[in-house]
Amino acid sequence: MTGLIGVLGGAGAVGRTAVERLASFGLPLRIGGRSLVRADEVARAVGADATAVDLFDDDSLTRFCSGCAVVVNCAGPSYQVLDRVARAALAADAGYVDAAGDLVAVEALGHAPPSSLARRAAVFSAGLMPGLSGLLPRLLLDGTPVGRLDVYVGGSVEISEASAVDALLTRGPKFGHALAMWQAGRVVEHSLAPLRSVSLPGFRGRVHAVPFLSTEMRMLAAGGGIGELRNYTVYATENLPAAFATAWADDEQPPEAHAGAIVAAAARDVEEHGRHYTVLAYARPPAGSGLPARRVLLRTPDSYPLSGLVAAITARELAAGAVPPGVHYASEALDPRRVTAELAGDPLVSELALPEDAAATR
Ligand SMILES: NC(=O)c1ccc[n+]([C@@H]2O[C@H](COP(=O)([O-])OP(=O)(O)OC[C@H]3O[C@@H](n4cnc5c(N)ncnc54)[C@H](OP(=O)(O)O)[C@@H]3O)[C@@H](O)[C@H]2O)c1
Repeated sequence: MTGLIGVLGGAGAVGRTAVERLASFGLPLRIGGRSLVRADEVARAVGADATAVDLFDDDSLTRFCSGCAVVVNCAGPSYQVLDRVARAALAADAGYVDAAGDLVAVEALGHAPPSSLARRAAVFSAGLMPGLSGLLPRLLLDGTPVGRLDVYVGGSVEISEASAVDALLTRGPKFGHALAMWQAGRVVEHSLAPLRSVSLPGFRGRVHAVPFLSTEMRMLAAGGGIGELRNYTVYATENLPAAFATAWADDEQPPEAHAGAIVAAAARDVEEHGRHYTVLAYARPPAGSGLPARRVLLRTPDSYPLSGLVAAITARELAAGAVPPGVHYASEALDPRRVTAELAGDPLVSELALPEDAAATR
């Protein structure tokens, strides 16, 4: 399948890079957003068309999707978008890529799934986290036995208002389990404590690592037969954990009321520590196996453009017919070797150490 790629939210922090990269792949594009002026500015830069579309308006969304081979959604917040754009894309007989969206969105699409899913693919979580955070550790699950896998993702980047609302709504067992690990085939609640002021390979300075067994990591552990998995969200300072704690303690107000405080806390991190983001996955061999520990490490100056690149790669794979019909997560639908080969030479990636690199085996 080749043809027009529609990028909804193409003028946003994630969408801009998705648009640039899809254009560099030589794919014809349609850029959409509520503001025609903003969408048009991005579209002109790559010689594409722009359309005014509000994803919560059925008619304009239907018009936007019509004629597309693939629709890429980079508009949020994801937990309000859910399966809305996916359904419109599939109704137009297009494939679908979402830079965000996890189990909740997938489950929503699973209730009365569109019949076109028998012919088309819908891929969710095609960003950095979720996305690369689930894909990169798969390089360590290449048949080499793993006794324990530790994954650390985070750093210091600005957070958009849409992402802030998403992050605030990411609560409850469908999203993940705070302070939990995966062990011997099940989630073990309250089994881990935050690591305060620690040094971690690939992270700048001392950081705070907060255990959060995300749904993406739980699925990775369950599918990969990993004995133990610990997953941490990494913060450069206490600014963000404190802002999240304040927001979550407030039952009175909607999450939107606290988005500004989250955005401001992330901006303070960047002021104090610059802009940087890391994914580190560290696999220990089973005890007594004599095998070496292995790791994969990726560093980027900013997680948002890199999320746009992952969404663009996913859309290109869909357009090329490389993803089978049905509903997928990007971390499972993409080939980690092919993606890392592409990321290795990309200016958005400041460091990539793969398991076979000497420096990645410690
Ligand atoms: N997986 C990951 O690692 C990852 C990383 C970062 C972000 N994300 C997710 O990606 C999504 C976008 O984040 P972002 O930071 O790029 O947001 P952003 O900078 O605010 O951009 C959002 C874009 O969507 C458009 N938009 C917003 N509401 C819309 C609506 N109702 N209808 C049509 N277009 C709309 C906006 O343009 P107009 O204002 O002109 O409509 C804008 O172009 C969020 O869901 C976020 O959580 C995922």
